[in-house]
Amino acid sequence: METVVSGIRSTGNLHLGNYLGAIKNFVKMQNENNCYFFIADYHSLTTHPHPADLHSNVKQVLVEYLACGIDPEKCTIYVQSDVPQVAELYLLLNMNAYVGELQRCTSFKDKIRKQPDNVNAGLLTYPSLMAADILLHKAHKVPVGKDQEQHLEMTRTFGNRFNRIYETEYFPEPQAFNFGTALVKIPGLDGSGKMGKSEGEGNAIFLADDPKVMTKKIMRAKTDSGPEKPNQEKPEEIVNLFTLLKTVSTDDTVQHFEDVYNDCSIRYGDLKKQLAEDMVKFLAPVKEKIDELSSDDKYIQKVLQEGKEKALESAIKTVKEVREIIGIKPF
Ligand code: TRP
Repeated sequence: METVVSGIRSTGNLHLGNYLGAIKNFVKMQNENNCYFFIADYHSLTTHPHPADLHSNVKQVLVEYLACGIDPEKCTIYVQSDVPQVAELYLLLNMNAYVGELQRCTSFKDKIRKQPDNVNAGLLTYPSLMAADILLHKAHKVPVGKDQEQHLEMTRTFGNRFNRIYETEYFPEPQAFNFGTALVKIPGLDGSGKMGKSEGEGNAIFLADDPKVMTKKIMRAKTDSGPEKPNQEKPEEIVNLFTLLKTVSTDDTVQHFEDVYNDCSIRYGDLKKQLAEDMVKFLAPVKEKIDELSSDDKYIQKVLQEGKEKALESAIKTVKEVREIIGIKPF
């Protein structure tokens, strides 16, 4: 069985796009692979969150992943900082990571532009920590989006370099697991592009949104002034609303709104009302699970304890072997 590792950013809430995109695929992957999913709280320190925020974000992310169907019986789900062996592997990998290659990393260059007052060493060595996450479990596959491909490439570089320096074949070369066409793109509500939490207020529908908030956001979604001639091509913001409608409504409903769009009698308010109603219904089971899990600290503790134990088993073994390969061994 192949080993899969994926880190989850512990910043903020998950939205519909995360759910129908990556997470749906994680849920499938856990049936066929030895999956390690972890919440990357060390990584989030590169942007210096407030301690209370860090703590509550870790819980929120965990609860939401579980609510989406990540099953602790089928995979290992843990918090990165519960397995401090990753910090040792990170240190060891850093000894063979060159400052030049870290500085050339696109995400580092982005960050210096975005937070010029906080260009910390953690930002520079973000790729080494990510490589440590992946190599810690000797992963074969890493499900990543486009924005993480360069980091994965650096993981391969660090793993291969380790193998070369120490004349070993210890680390397998992790490959990107690309969902290709299976990865659905969910548009946002602001009329442009993808749903994303950094795209501005009101663009994303969060899984934990209260139905009232969700409805309000949908009612405020961007539209144009309406079709002027029959069977007119739809502008992007209207295509987006139809895409969302197709995701959560019945075929009959979608057809109805296609028809009234095409004969120019559409009222966007009606479409949005229907979309909001169906969206609330669609996400109700997830929302219910989020609420239920949020108040079940006993269960959360149990999941994290078991996840930690399973992750430690593999982490301790790897670090022990890596130390020996490097020449750190008992006398
Ligand atoms: N950098 C990833 C992101 O921002 C999160 C992450 C950290 C990760 N460690 C990882 C992803 C290891 C895959 C494997 O989304």
